[in-house]
Amino acid sequence: MGDSKHRCLSFFTVILLVQSIPSNGINVGITYVRNAVAKGAVCLDGSPPAYHLDKGSGAGINNWLVHFEGGGWCNNVTTCLARRDTRLGSSKHMAMELVFSGILSNIRNFNPGFYNWNRIKVRYCDGASFTGDVETVNPATKLHFRGGRVFIAIVEDLLAKGMKHAQNAILSGCSAGGLTAILNCDKFHSLLPRNTKVKCLGDAGFFIKAKDVSGNQHIEAFYAEVVATHASAKNLPASCTSRMKPDLCFFPQNAAQHLQIPLFILNAVYDAWQIKNILAPGVADPHGKWHNCKTDIRKCSRNQINIMQDFRLQFINAINRLERSSASGMFIDACYAHCQSEMQETWLRDDSPILVNTTISKAVGDWFYGRNDYRAIDCAYPCNPTCHNRIYKN
Ligand SMILES: *[C@@H]1O[C@H](CO)[C@@H](O)[C@H](O)[C@H]1NC(C)=O
Ligand SMILES: *[C@@H]1O[C@H](CO)[C@@H](O)[C@H](O)[C@H]1NC(C)=O
Repeated sequence: MGDSKHRCLSFFTVILLVQSIPSNGINVGITYVRNAVAKGAVCLDGSPPAYHLDKGSGAGINNWLVHFEGGGWCNNVTTCLARRDTRLGSSKHMAMELVFSGILSNIRNFNPGFYNWNRIKVRYCDGASFTGDVETVNPATKLHFRGGRVFIAIVEDLLAKGMKHAQNAILSGCSAGGLTAILNCDKFHSLLPRNTKVKCLGDAGFFIKAKDVSGNQHIEAFYAEVVATHASAKNLPASCTSRMKPDLCFFPQNAAQHLQIPLFILNAVYDAWQIKNILAPGVADPHGKWHNCKTDIRKCSRNQINIMQDFRLQFINAINRLERSSASGMFIDACYAHCQSEMQETWLRDDSPILVNTTISKAVGDWFYGRNDYRAIDCAYPCNPTCHNRIYKN
């Protein structure tokens, strides 16, 4: 009797213990940047921008990783209105805590390069990868297109919190946040002290200019609407907009050609978001023939795989345009994935993706610390058995 009660208790204790071991990361509370409101640096709905900060320690105390959240874009008033009162458009709707794992982990074994840095996850809330700046606010919609101002206000707030003493700093992000890191890379450097060593990491942010399966330039038209709606042109890299139409400078293959600051491109060559939204968006596939393939790469027909192999070649061509650029690091794996730095399972675990005998965590760490400018592009699907090919519910 006493014995079984004891067993029950210890079983319960084990569950509690397992739950409290932060194997998937720690929870970090939100900080609202309320003083940004006076500068007009606000989310779509006019609320203050926000981030989550976990302070550095020991040797990492003066190192800063500023990582931007993703979440697509809104390209016109209709789609921006639909986003305005959600967590992607308003800090009133954001979770108060986020889990930090992968590149944001505070545990040495899970994140050897950056675990003791000051690690920040900036919440996405403008719908244009933090490039917009429209002074006028329509009184009917109350939409604020101010992402460019938010970017600066966030960096200024972090400088005041100690980043002004930074020895090392990384601007990173995933998806639309990965694009934020690429597009704002030189600007980030210009806002930091002159002696800070700055590099940028775009994870799943290398969206390519490619035709969809119906032969239309769907993504090009979509990005042109994003740039027009948010008046993004003046916040895109001037080294690009001085050479071509601003719309085209929303594509990293153009925007990153003349950056000054070293850039690491981390991307799955069969990026799941790009396959779903650039190659085979709903409008280009009215009968839903791509539906099963987009949810699970193993369900693609031979013809669909061939089309994806062609997309891979276009992706590699786009990457090759950066040959003489500051893009000194890259990890382009042959996986069906989207965002690989934030999740422990892809960033660093005993079964994480490997390319040329290297995990993503090691490749990025070696590149940042100057041990090795890791640049590798994988062979074609299904050549890499270490991939974590995602399966999506819809
Ligand atoms: C806004 O964009 C969406 C998505 O591209 C499109 O379906 C819709 O027709 C557009 N609305 C207007 C008013 O242009
Ligand atoms: C792969 O990396 C491991 C660990 O760094 C090393 O021990 C091993 O020799 C490497 N193998 C090859 C083929 O380079």
